[in-house]
Amino acid sequence: MSQAATAVALTLPADQPQTTHTATRALRAQTLSDLTVTMKGEAFASASYNLFGTEADREAHPATGKLFRATAQTELNEHLHQAAALAGVVGTNAANLRQAINGETYEHQVMYHGFADQARNDGDPEAAKLFTEIAADEGRHRDAYRTALTVVTTGRGTIPTPPKADTVPVPAGLPKVKAARTKANLDTAMHGEALAHAKYMLFAARARQTGNPALAHLFEGTAGVELHEHFASEAVLAGLVRTTKTNLNRAITGERNEATTLYPRFAKRATAVGDEAVAGFFRDTAADEAKHATAFQQALNQLH
Ligand SMILES: [Fe+2]
Ligand SMILES: [Fe+2]
Ligand SMILES: [Fe+2]
Ligand SMILES: [Fe+2]
Repeated sequence: MSQAATAVALTLPADQPQTTHTATRALRAQTLSDLTVTMKGEAFASASYNLFGTEADREAHPATGKLFRATAQTELNEHLHQAAALAGVVGTNAANLRQAINGETYEHQVMYHGFADQARNDGDPEAAKLFTEIAADEGRHRDAYRTALTVVTTGRGTIPTPPKADTVPVPAGLPKVKAARTKANLDTAMHGEALAHAKYMLFAARARQTGNPALAHLFEGTAGVELHEHFASEAVLAGLVRTTKTNLNRAITGERNEATTLYPRFAKRATAVGDEAVAGFFRDTAADEAKHATAFQQALNQLH
């Protein structure tokens, strides 16, 4: 859901202070952009590892299942949450709702319709159908958030009842789509859904802290739909989950890339523009990812 919302932040000139949240005031545009890429990657890794953990259990590798779930927690509760704090993602309830409305509007009006058209043209009717259904859901999410925003800003009316997620199981399987463009769009969509889930859980925590449990429920219910329905049904079509051996190999490749290439590059860029706190975060996170790669490698060695 974040693409439209973050686009606003990222188009600010590099030397102009942010006006929305204190934490972002000093950050340069490149640093903010790198933090957004980080949050998407971490949210995606966390959601994927939880599914890989379920598959490991299915294959009777309980220790590997545990490792995937513990790592998923670190990606979400440490890496993503720290990046979100540095980027100033969470604001007042009203600001959080506006950010959520922007994201849902972009997904509803632009992103999923475009993906559906492309999938139809590329001969992937199942993906076209899914993207169209999700587009409709995002429209309902936007409408509920708009109603909630009116309640929060005027004190009148009722926060809508949260949507209920129909949990979609994600068994191991090959991709069910043909076109490279559909696969790329599924990947983009899964990153967006994983980030939307994570952000809404942060917004829910803020709503609860500020004494608005009905708003917390709305964010949590919507977060559940993003992860357990949208992300999950896209993961089925994308063939995200394979055998545990393949899942481990893919996780190792991702962790090594983050440890040796991605986060060191982000750290260097943050240092170059004087965003030293963020640079420190990227260096610490790179070190964590190297440990994740090692732990996954050990799990892989024990499979043989
Ligand atoms: Fe991470
Ligand atoms: Fe949504
Ligand atoms: Fe969604
Ligand atoms: Fe990691």
